[in-house]
Amino acid sequence: MIWILLGAPGAGKGTQAKRLQGDLGFVQISTGELLREAMKAGTELGKNVEGYIRRGELVPDNLVAEVLQERLAQGDTGNGVILDGFPRTVRQAQMLEEILARHHWRLCGVLYLDASEEVVLHRLGGRRTCPQCGANYHVVTMPPKVDGRCDRCGAELVLRPDDALDAIHKRLEVYREQTEPLVAFYSQRGMLERIDAGGDAEEVYRAVKTAISRRWQQCLANG
Ligand code: AP5
Repeated sequence: MIWILLGAPGAGKGTQAKRLQGDLGFVQISTGELLREAMKAGTELGKNVEGYIRRGELVPDNLVAEVLQERLAQGDTGNGVILDGFPRTVRQAQMLEEILARHHWRLCGVLYLDASEEVVLHRLGGRRTCPQCGANYHVVTMPPKVDGRCDRCGAELVLRPDDALDAIHKRLEVYREQTEPLVAFYSQRGMLERIDAGGDAEEVYRAVKTAISRRWQQCLANG
């Protein structure tokens, strides 16, 4: 079963995907994380995408679809796969339909984390990331136990390069123009679950789980 987490930068997609992974045994596939790993490893792909990411622009559809297909081909689907950050354009959504049809995989639902611009600006401005294990924190709402250090692996936390103010504004502009149309795209297909993502992480997670259990029944009933 495949699930999509859709939402603006900073809406909390990664935070919720990690909870679903730890709690329900879902497999999180974050195209952003895969691309950042490639950058860190200095691969050809990493070199090709670095400029786009630093500027807050989208990586070209074909490139990112290839990254997703390679990851899906590893075959670890757990209790469900949660796509965090893919698709991000209508073209990517169409490509995903083709990929899923080819593998006979079913899209169960699209969890749309709806948060205001004010909320996402606050979240991205205070985010700190672990460069070692990928854990995310927020200086106010989710601080680490020891200031500036990852709770899980002890590495020094950093600011993501695309969390600089200019790049944040660019990412939000790109989201409005290229990704937000997916809300209508999936709504028309009866796949969309709108979730108020303005509350704290626990409240949002409860709403995410409610939406999943509702959709899960439908997905099973539809064979
Ligand atoms: P990606 O890594 O996907 O970044 P994003 O979509 O911009 O999303 P973020 O990771 O910034 O935010 P999030 O919604 O996951 O929020 P988080 O949980 O961290 O993509 C990065 C780049 O890669 C793109 O710009 C693009 O260049 C490229 N890319 C990736 N996929 C692509 C694709 N498909 N096509 C083309 N290009 C692609 O939370 C944010 C902060 O808020 C954290 O500090 C967290 O602790 C805190 N927080 C979270 N939830 C709450 C809450 N409920 N209450 C309080 N604080 C909270």
